[in-house]
Amino acid sequence: MASVEEDKYERLMDLAKRRGFLWPSYEIYGGVAGFYDLGPYGISLKNNIINKWREYFIRRHQDMVVEVETPVIGPAKVYEASGHVENFTDPIVECLKCGRKFRADHLVEEKLGISVEGLTPEELTKLIRENNIKCPVCGGELGEVKTFNLLFETRIGPYESNKGYIRPELAQGIFVAFKRVLEAMRNRLPLGIAQIGRVGRNEISPRQGVIRLREFTIMEMEFFIDPKREECPILSKVEDVDLYILTQKARLNGEPPEKYKAGEAVDEGIIVHGCLAYWMVVGKKFVESLGIPGDSIMFEDKLPDERAHYSSQTFDQKVKVSRWGWIEIAGHSYRGNYDLSRHMKYSGKDLRVYRSYPEPVIRKTVKYLVNKALIGRMYKKDAPNVISIIEKYGVEKLYNELADKEAIVIDGYRITKDMIIMKIVEEKITGEKFVPHVIEPSFGTDRIVFATLEHAYREKDGRRILSFPRDIAPVQVSVFPLIEKDEKLREIATSLYRDLVDKGFTAIYDDSGNIGRRYARSDEIGVPFAVTVDYQTLEDKTVTVRDRDTWRQVRVNINRLPNLIRIGLGSKLPLEELVSKI
Ligand code: ATP
Ligand code: GLY
Repeated sequence: MASVEEDKYERLMDLAKRRGFLWPSYEIYGGVAGFYDLGPYGISLKNNIINKWREYFIRRHQDMVVEVETPVIGPAKVYEASGHVENFTDPIVECLKCGRKFRADHLVEEKLGISVEGLTPEELTKLIRENNIKCPVCGGELGEVKTFNLLFETRIGPYESNKGYIRPELAQGIFVAFKRVLEAMRNRLPLGIAQIGRVGRNEISPRQGVIRLREFTIMEMEFFIDPKREECPILSKVEDVDLYILTQKARLNGEPPEKYKAGEAVDEGIIVHGCLAYWMVVGKKFVESLGIPGDSIMFEDKLPDERAHYSSQTFDQKVKVSRWGWIEIAGHSYRGNYDLSRHMKYSGKDLRVYRSYPEPVIRKTVKYLVNKALIGRMYKKDAPNVISIIEKYGVEKLYNELADKEAIVIDGYRITKDMIIMKIVEEKITGEKFVPHVIEPSFGTDRIVFATLEHAYREKDGRRILSFPRDIAPVQVSVFPLIEKDEKLREIATSLYRDLVDKGFTAIYDDSGNIGRRYARSDEIGVPFAVTVDYQTLEDKTVTVRDRDTWRQVRVNINRLPNLIRIGLGSKLPLEELVSKI
């Protein structure tokens, strides 16, 4: 029997489909696993979430973070350089009877209830054999576990040999464009380059609805730092913020996550870099702003064999949802200089950054010079030949060998000590080149849309409500005439609706069905304020405003309504208190 929580998930998904938030793509053709459509309210919610991310990660940090857009399709070389062609794989196993293919690690995890992340295909095959795990569909024998590359392959243009891939992450477009952006931003580090866009991953057998998609949106930033600057210049702003962290040690001991101050986690070496901690805090605050409470957000430190090939530390940012428990919504990785170094190697281009020394350094170097004037006088027309013989032999080597000799004869020419001069040269060095290191927060937008829906979902008196934070609600205000058939009320309500739209609000007008039904619809879409025009409006120009969450109502003058909604959207104050602010 389904648990209450599972029922809750079903009821939420039912609402989400019915009200036009999201549904499986290509439904009329039977659907294709791993693809989801977002409907009118779903895309509005998602856009509001993306704008929040932009606010937290980019706008508030505009002195050091910028946004770019790079292509979805990349030439094969880029993904050979990034390591994805070789490493972006998942374990796969095929049923020998029915031919169906499954994600081998997930199958074993489901059957045995243990985590097998990071195990090799051989180890997984062994577990399947030892535990007699069979095909979950037909009960048939399973074959050997193999690896399957998740990159979607394509051709660029009409040439077979011009292989390309759909990007599985946004990062590579950023690394490849790094030098250009750095120059445009006047060569200063730290520099964050952010991108929001679609990615494709050919997941083996996605079965978790909107959680595991084959095409989805990522919001990602590559934060380039100078690894020689040990301190993170921005950490002090957030060092006292609490993070729930599940350390590697706690994981191995089966302990729960613990609260750490961000600064303390860095001091104790739990988080390898202050800037990684800084962006984890921003990530936590961003997710809290979507209505997901702090105690439903944690950071899990991945074990070395669970991390992607480029990472030396990764925290999965997870949120709790009813159906699946903790789900990963973001990865925070320390990518070091892996990617830029690989692109330098594969492209032959110098992607290093110049670091000035605080004070120029005087470097003394010893130089060994051939005394060409003397050789010219001694050997006349043979001189060029003699010089070339000395250079071939090695000027420094010859100088050292002549230390305790008068002369050495090479190819019949007598070379004497005074034909090589040792000189100490002083050079003023003002800086050096280095490959920046990278910290990456990477957020999966569609999982966040789902988690936001889940945490907004309430049931009250048998009714369903999406209690989004007011500022991300897909629609901000609904407008109703009290009586559907009353021309006068409808006229005022439509003109009020028009006025609100003209003033920049997202609004809906609804005059069908009784007022209770319309309130219920508005609550299901998650509209924070519902405004009703009634007979009293005709007398005193006031309307009722109803709060989605408390269902309480206030009366306000129609002229003061836009102000009430504007202030209300930016605050959590109850309606009654908002009225006193306008
Ligand atoms: P997973 O372990 O779930 O496959 P991942 O560790 O490969 O995810 P990342 O490469 O860190 O994920 O991608 C960044 C974010 O993109 C993830 O935190 C997640 O929110 C989202 N994401 C990854 N894969 C999918 C997917 N198949 N469908 C929807 N969102 C995804
Ligand atoms: N960001 C995950 C990967 O591309 O490996």
